Amino acid sequence: MKVTVIGAGNVGATCANVIAHKELANEVILLDIKEGIAEGKSLDIWQTAPINIFDTRVKGYTNNYEPTASSDVVVITSGLPRKPGMSRDDLIATNAGIVKSVTESVVRFSPEAIIIVVSNPLDVMTYCAYLASKFDSRRVMGMAGILDTARYKAFLAEELNISPKEIQAMLLGGHGDTMVPLPRYTTVSGIPISEFLPEEKIHAIVERTKKGGGELVNLMGTSAWYAPGAAAAQMVEAIVRDQKRVLPVCAWLTGEYGLHNIYLGVPVVLGRSGVEKIIELKLNEEEMDLVKKSAAAVREVCNVLDNMNLFT
Ligand code: NAI
Ligand code: 2OP
Repeated sequence: MKVTVIGAGNVGATCANVIAHKELANEVILLDIKEGIAEGKSLDIWQTAPINIFDTRVKGYTNNYEPTASSDVVVITSGLPRKPGMSRDDLIATNAGIVKSVTESVVRFSPEAIIIVVSNPLDVMTYCAYLASKFDSRRVMGMAGILDTARYKAFLAEELNISPKEIQAMLLGGHGDTMVPLPRYTTVSGIPISEFLPEEKIHAIVERTKKGGGELVNLMGTSAWYAPGAAAAQMVEAIVRDQKRVLPVCAWLTGEYGLHNIYLGVPVVLGRSGVEKIIELKLNEEEMDLVKKSAAAVREVCNVLDNMNLFT
């Protein structure tokens, strides 16, 4: 297996590092536009191989797509991260240009690849990569739901003083303040979360989750990378190992949840063919209303992209 990670910044390098440590591929190619950064970080990761004991060969290149040829999976992290005071949507103009040109180069050398987009604003950048790649939608998806549910689970684990391994949860919607964590689909080893915490506490954790990215931006002056990098690597693992895992993924909807032609976070079965199935949960009226609101917010930013006329 060969995996390429575009963007050797905080998230890209972390993702490549996790992929190498877990030996998810024989070869990981790290690519960046900034001279030397991908070469340097990949050399550094490769030099952990004798310590952490892995064989995955990690190589870095500056803006040269030839070595990425015939990648099985490509993770796109190139683009600007959020700074304090910026919303994910503020990033659209710059990152759309970057994601479009990167995707076109990726596709030229790896026409059979599965693409995982990480760049923000996530749902719209995934749509941008889909348009630029002209791939079947099952092979173009975005990473957000695994990160957002991880934050939700981590907050719950901390509050309950219970291992995060025991928390199962699902979350729908866009990667932004309108995301929809689902307490009704949250359990501790199969026991409903409502058996453990009062409604107000769950509500407070849901609200903290929705602002989880912003909380980290305010603390660090840039957006997070350890959990985002690990989350993208988990998607790579599900694909290259054909695990058929059920994970929240930003996927193209064609009528599911009553939504048409939009990228949005939903539970999917993730395997070697990409998004192999979209799972439609039975939502109550309140949950469906929140998902529709989230879709409307994503649609608004997609319209901004459409009006940029990048694909005409
Ligand atoms: P970073 O600034 O550390 O790294 C971005 C890298 O992309 C830089 O090294 C830059 O040189 C490179 N780059 C820019 N244009 C390029 C091009 N045309 N070709 C190749 N490389 C190019 O940023 P970080 O923290 O790694 O974040 C990356 C992106 O991921 C941001 O858009 C951020 O908002 C997003 N993000 C998304 C998350 C999600 O849940 N989907 C979570 C965390 C970050
Ligand atoms: C995050 O959620 C900002 O999307 C980035 O950490």
